[in-house]
Amino acid sequence: MTNKYIYFIANWKMFGGLKTLNSLNKVISFSKNYGKYKFKIIYCPPTTLIHNLSQKFKQSSIEVGAQNCNENLEYTSLTGQINSKMLRDVGAKYIILGHSENRLNGESNKLINKKIKSSLKSGLRVIVCIGETLSEKRKNKTKRVLSNQIKSCLKGIKNLSNIVIAYEPVWAIGTGLIPKMDNLTKNIFFIKNSIKNKSTKVLYGGSVNIKNIKDLKKIKIIDGFLIGGESRNSKKFIDIIKKTFN
Ligand code: PGA
Repeated sequence: MTNKYIYFIANWKMFGGLKTLNSLNKVISFSKNYGKYKFKIIYCPPTTLIHNLSQKFKQSSIEVGAQNCNENLEYTSLTGQINSKMLRDVGAKYIILGHSENRLNGESNKLINKKIKSSLKSGLRVIVCIGETLSEKRKNKTKRVLSNQIKSCLKGIKNLSNIVIAYEPVWAIGTGLIPKMDNLTKNIFFIKNSIKNKSTKVLYGGSVNIKNIKDLKKIKIIDGFLIGGESRNSKKFIDIIKKTFN
């Protein structure tokens, strides 16, 4: 895993406030002092912190992303909604779309496809989450689900250069469980083969921690990690990055 840039994306979900931000000084100095490792750190905080974080990371290589958006690009009367243009305006360079926590709240592949298209138009790079549920896995439907999510979410998008895929089995998120290494390797291969652009990055997400990173890093075709719980503690997040390279 040392010849390419490895992505470490922190998904803070609905956690964090202004008081949390000082702890990120550690990550900033780590990113400056460990130039020998090839990594890309992207923080996706709640929307309320995007501007603060983008200011904070200005003098570093760390970038900021959002966690979701409304699909409309026009300014319009939609109380409580935020579009990708507004997120770009306050400093987001990336956006996570299709996260299973939002799919479980009713987001369809069709809606995710609209969000991806509008986010690309706004100049954001999109991290598209895909993954099977436990019942789909048990019924041996994983490949069918992944293939359908890829096809539908990326429908009509010709230029995939600003798309990153995050494979996140739903049953692995926040549970402490991760896939068996051979299954994970097969699924990542399957995803890479299903995408026309051969240089598209494919990340893994779901319960990544300081212990299992030792195994996960052995899967050389994984281009990085989307990290939830363990990314909210700067020390743990840094340790995961260090372990990936040592
Ligand atoms: P987790 O979350 O690392 O806490 O499992 C990952 C995610 O939901 O992106």
